[in-house]
Amino acid sequence: MCGIVGYAGSQNAAEILLDGLKKLEYRGYDSAGIAVMNNKHISVNKVTGRIENLCEITENGRSVIGKIGIGHTRWATHGSPTDINAHPHMSNSGKFAVVHNGIIENYIALKQELINKGFNFESETDTEVIAHLLEMYYTDDIKKAFYKAVSRLEGSYAIGVISTDEPDKIFLARQSSPLILGVGMGENYFASDVTALVAYTKNIIYMDDGEFAELTPDYIKVFDWAGHPVEKPINRITWDIQAAEKGGYDHFMLKEIIEQPAAVRAAICPRIKNEKICFDDSGIDKSTFTGVEKIIITACGSAYYAGCCGKYIIEKLCGIPVETELASELRYRNPIIDENTLLIVLSQSGETADTIAAMRECKNRGAKTLAIVNVVGSTIAKAADYTIYTLAGPEIAVATTKGYTTQLAVLYLFSVYFAKEKMLLNDEEYHRLLTELKDLPKYVEEAIDMNFNISELAKKYCNTNSIFFIGRNTDYAVALEGALKMKEISYIHAEAYAAGELKHGTIALIDENQPVVALCCNEQIIEKTVSNIVEVKARSARVIGVSFKNNEKILTVADDIIFVPRVDGLFAPIVEVVPLQLLAYYIAKEKGCDIDMPKNLAKSVTVE
Ligand code: AGP
Repeated sequence: MCGIVGYAGSQNAAEILLDGLKKLEYRGYDSAGIAVMNNKHISVNKVTGRIENLCEITENGRSVIGKIGIGHTRWATHGSPTDINAHPHMSNSGKFAVVHNGIIENYIALKQELINKGFNFESETDTEVIAHLLEMYYTDDIKKAFYKAVSRLEGSYAIGVISTDEPDKIFLARQSSPLILGVGMGENYFASDVTALVAYTKNIIYMDDGEFAELTPDYIKVFDWAGHPVEKPINRITWDIQAAEKGGYDHFMLKEIIEQPAAVRAAICPRIKNEKICFDDSGIDKSTFTGVEKIIITACGSAYYAGCCGKYIIEKLCGIPVETELASELRYRNPIIDENTLLIVLSQSGETADTIAAMRECKNRGAKTLAIVNVVGSTIAKAADYTIYTLAGPEIAVATTKGYTTQLAVLYLFSVYFAKEKMLLNDEEYHRLLTELKDLPKYVEEAIDMNFNISELAKKYCNTNSIFFIGRNTDYAVALEGALKMKEISYIHAEAYAAGELKHGTIALIDENQPVVALCCNEQIIEKTVSNIVEVKARSARVIGVSFKNNEKILTVADDIIFVPRVDGLFAPIVEVVPLQLLAYYIAKEKGCDIDMPKNLAKSVTVE
């Protein structure tokens, strides 16, 4: 969703802002703009459509002169994507320019109040109230006016403001929307996430909710809600700009699929030391989960589907009941939770609004919270009692791939760790599972290598209007993710179905125009799924079977076969999802879709 970026230094700000905005494109947006300070005058350029349009009207930023500025990519919420609704928004006098991520929930009341006081509104956005509130409260101290304006806001925000009256400063505030500060030499930056800044600095300050900041070329000062200075640690980013670039691949999605063996290795291997799993980087020890009687896993989208696999894995290994619930549902329910409940929260971005809200709700009810998150310093990572980072590196494509597989990898690690702590595994079984875990990166790599020519299969199926994904048990959990991948990037209707449920209604839809992807990697119930394949074949469906190498049963019933390496059934999800990602990718490519930035979608869903 929206992205913000800002710069104060000695270089031409517009060029740096545009570069930062390009790096934030992946978050999803429909218009963009910049405001740059020049000789106590703010020049604003904003347009609908791609950043390229903004580059065009500003000669790649060269025609906009000034060394301090703020920029924004907008994903429309209040008001359609038009030039006028694009940020930055100006106050009536032209003294203040504002960029904002998030939603001001009480903007209608504020807008009416401001209109009554004579302020004119240009746009339909909620953000514009901030510019006018600043003007209303400003007498001679911008910081004071900013505090007063922000204190009137309800909702979520990361705000950047420049003003002609203090032309070398940027004012910032954060509440429930990501905001990071970049520390340079004689220049400083801010942005919604690290990818926008990593080309310029690796020294980052993570702002917390309720904090304000003042940023100039020479210093960054952070304040709390009461205006007291706050000492903030500077964190060093360990990856560099290449990690956030395509590196010769056609799309980030393909690059990230190929990166999965390395990402899974990074998630698993450093946490197996001396033949033991340790989460010492997360503050988890023997006593952390003592007394846990029930686990709830919550998340959205693919992260939720990783959680669905997690349910099977944890229940099997740890013998503890696990519920999975979509965060958007859990937050509005009355869940039965107490201090013996462990809530596992999964999120690549760590900024998903519904997931954050569900986590807060469960925490208030006494649950212990464990977050499995990729983005370091994100809201979910900070708010949880314990955080295990998935260490996947930056994920740019909107459709998650390595984000999902590293979530699975950490769920496996956690399950084996917890089962061992609960004394449910003898030494022999524990070491067998550790060996399997250490081998997972290799199996994921094999799954990629074995499906190199899946692009041919994609050609065969790319013209279909609908695809079913069926499976049982963990195969069903992976089917859910396979169907989502297909929908979001190829725009083909796809539906995941528990294979055993077909006969209860859905089989009515099966005919020769309905391809079915049948997942058969869980050996315990393969026979049952094979029967379902036979049933849909009897209704003329074309079937793509997904199974481990040389599975004779599949060879005889499916029209096309996708093979994955044979692994212990428990670990099948992490290998069988790989060809499904590749199939979705190549079908979307055949159809000429915008794979990395599918329509209507955003990478990080920071609004409800
Ligand atoms: C996955 O491909 C999607 N883009 C989406 O479902 C995503 O997984 C979901 O929005 C959750 O995001 P998170 O992991 O950042 O919380």
